[in-house]
Amino acid sequence: TSTQPTGVLDVSPVIPVVVIEDVDTAVPLARALASGGVRIVEVTLRSDAALTAIERIATELPDVLVGAGTLTTPAQVKDAVGAGARFLVSPGSTPTLLDAMADTGLPYLPGVSTASEVLAMLERGVTEMKFFPAEAAGGHPFLKALTGPLPRARFCPTGGITPLNAPNYLALPTVGCVGGSWLSPADAVSTGDWTCVTQLATQAASLGLT
Ligand code: 3PG
Repeated sequence: TSTQPTGVLDVSPVIPVVVIEDVDTAVPLARALASGGVRIVEVTLRSDAALTAIERIATELPDVLVGAGTLTTPAQVKDAVGAGARFLVSPGSTPTLLDAMADTGLPYLPGVSTASEVLAMLERGVTEMKFFPAEAAGGHPFLKALTGPLPRARFCPTGGITPLNAPNYLALPTVGCVGGSWLSPADAVSTGDWTCVTQLATQAASLGLT
C-alpha cells in the first residue's frame, strides 16, 4: 500500500476551484484569495493557461499552496508537477491515475463517489479524498451515511457546494474541507474585481468556525 502525504484538507475550510482563462489574472486572483485568509487554490487543467498559471502562483506566491485539478491522465500529472503544483486533484480514481499521482510524492485527492471506491482508496493507504460530484452524488445525507462504516476516510466534498450548504458538510467528522468555484465568479475575475474575491474568501475562511 502506498502512503499518501496528507494535510491538504487542513489548510482552509474551503479549497477554491478556479479556471484561469487569462494567465495574467492568476497571481492577482490567488493574492486576493490569500488576502481573505484562503491560502490554497486548485487550478483546474481545463484551460490553455492553467499550467502557466500554476507556475506563476508557485513562483510569485510561495505562501499560497497551489494545486492542479481536473487531472485525468498520467501525462497531465507530469505536466502539473513540472509546473510546480504542490498537490493534485482528480475527479475520479483509476489504478493508472492513482499510481501516477502516488509516484509524485505530493499530496493528492482522488475523486470518489461510492462506498466501494472509498474502500479501494483505504486499501491503498489513501485516507484523504475528494467526494465528487458531491451534491449530485447524494450530498450530505450520503456522506453522513458513509461515516459510520468508513470512519477513517476524510473527504473534501466538491461539486455544487455553496456558502449555504458548506456548513452542513463541514460539521461531519469525516469532512476536512469543501471545494468550490464560487469564490472566483467569472465576471469578477475578468473585470479584475479582486475586492469581491477577497470578500468571498473572507466569508469562506470563517466557515466551519461557528
Ligand atoms: C470541480 O472541478 O471540482 C467542480 O467543477 C467544482 O464544482 P462547482 O463549480 O460546483 O463548485
